Amino acid sequence: MLLDSLSAKATNSPNDRIRIGVIGPGSRGQELIRQFLHLPGNEIAAVADIYEPRYAQVDKLVGRSVPHYKDYRELLARTDLDAIVISTPVSLHAEHAQAAVRSGRPVYCEKALAFTAGECRDQVKTAEAGGHVFQMGFEYRYAAWVQEGVRRIQAGHIGEPTHVYAYWHRNNDWRRPVPSPDPDKKLEHLINWRLYRETSGGLLTELGSHHIDIANWVFDEPPARVTGTTSIVRWQDGRTVGDNVQAIFSYSKGRRMVFSSITDNAEMGNQLWVYGTEGTVQFTIEDATFYYEPKKPKAAPAGAEVVERGITTGASYSPRGEMPYRGEGERLSTPNAEDPTLACCRSFLDCVRNGKKPVADVRIGYHSAIATVIGNQALYEEKSYAIPGLT
Ligand SMILES: NC(=O)c1ccc[n+]([C@@H]2O[C@H](COP(=O)([O-])OP(=O)(O)OC[C@H]3O[C@@H](n4cnc5c(N)ncnc54)[C@H](O)[C@@H]3O)[C@@H](O)[C@H]2O)c1
Repeated sequence: MLLDSLSAKATNSPNDRIRIGVIGPGSRGQELIRQFLHLPGNEIAAVADIYEPRYAQVDKLVGRSVPHYKDYRELLARTDLDAIVISTPVSLHAEHAQAAVRSGRPVYCEKALAFTAGECRDQVKTAEAGGHVFQMGFEYRYAAWVQEGVRRIQAGHIGEPTHVYAYWHRNNDWRRPVPSPDPDKKLEHLINWRLYRETSGGLLTELGSHHIDIANWVFDEPPARVTGTTSIVRWQDGRTVGDNVQAIFSYSKGRRMVFSSITDNAEMGNQLWVYGTEGTVQFTIEDATFYYEPKKPKAAPAGAEVVERGITTGASYSPRGEMPYRGEGERLSTPNAEDPTLACCRSFLDCVRNGKKPVADVRIGYHSAIATVIGNQALYEEKSYAIPGLT
């Protein structure tokens, strides 16, 4: 009922309604549909999915019967769609997004942009040749507290940002339930595509791509190299991607981004810390908190001895050791902040309607995706690799 009234309110006039086709309305696709239903001037006009149970799920969500197709090409062949959302697994983004661009429509493509280095480049080439709006599903680019936090970092509030430490820690097996029987494991691979290397970039791609994008934004450039490691420490259940990942990305001037994801302890949750020479920012999924480095005492004259608790030392030693900073942070408050995914969908409609360039455009998508593609190569081989940029 609520959704009915929201979608009814959403339509100003049938003529300026943006008619959206969704390819892959699974978990994320349905979340995007839910957000579009809250926004005026659009209509979920068709969906395409090879998994038939999705059709009834979408109908229930939208509150009416939405035309559906098993083959996405039939959806793209419709002439009455104004924009296409791609929310299939990452290994299909290149095929689906490029077909959508070639059909002449603006595209909202879920992260990550693509699955291989060649596909990443092709996505950029095709999107730019198409000349339509191409927006990535990087909702944190649209989160008010992340925008303001990054603005303050770039304005020098924490000195020179030198390190980003990003954590995405969970305590679960990352599995989805699969209907039985499933004798040939087809449903297992369709539903749990994230767990298999043929279809997934694992934790680095699925979770780290968001953090890499924020680090790229903070440092105002993409990373140049990556190294790392991965293993299966807990979930020996037939998956072929790691259940934990540690990766280090190198930026210019010696700056680094460290990404850690584990699935056997949720202590750190999803958070990203930016360390600067004069302070620190902690970003979470709902706020940002600034901590400033304690002001240092004036430097002792060269050669001066320091006497602490009867011990005479050089100025660098303190018998108290180095405790973590426990001062109260300054919480960045954005009380009326819109849900980032809602803001991301709203911005997409605005770009489509007014021909604007998306905040999270295809190049932003490239720099995060290529870092995950090369990153995975580095993790699996435990080597260090250069990350190709864009010309
Ligand atoms: N931006 C975010 O915060 C966010 C959050 C979650 C997921 N995602 C991204 O969204 C994408 C989908 O993730 P999900 O969790 O919704 O996966 P999902 O498995 O729930 O949904 C994917 C859907 O695509 C369908 N599909 C598979 N092959 C298809 C084909 N050939 N043609 C048409 N449909 C096909 C599946 O049947 C399924 O319904 C991934 O790229 C993921 O990284 C983004």
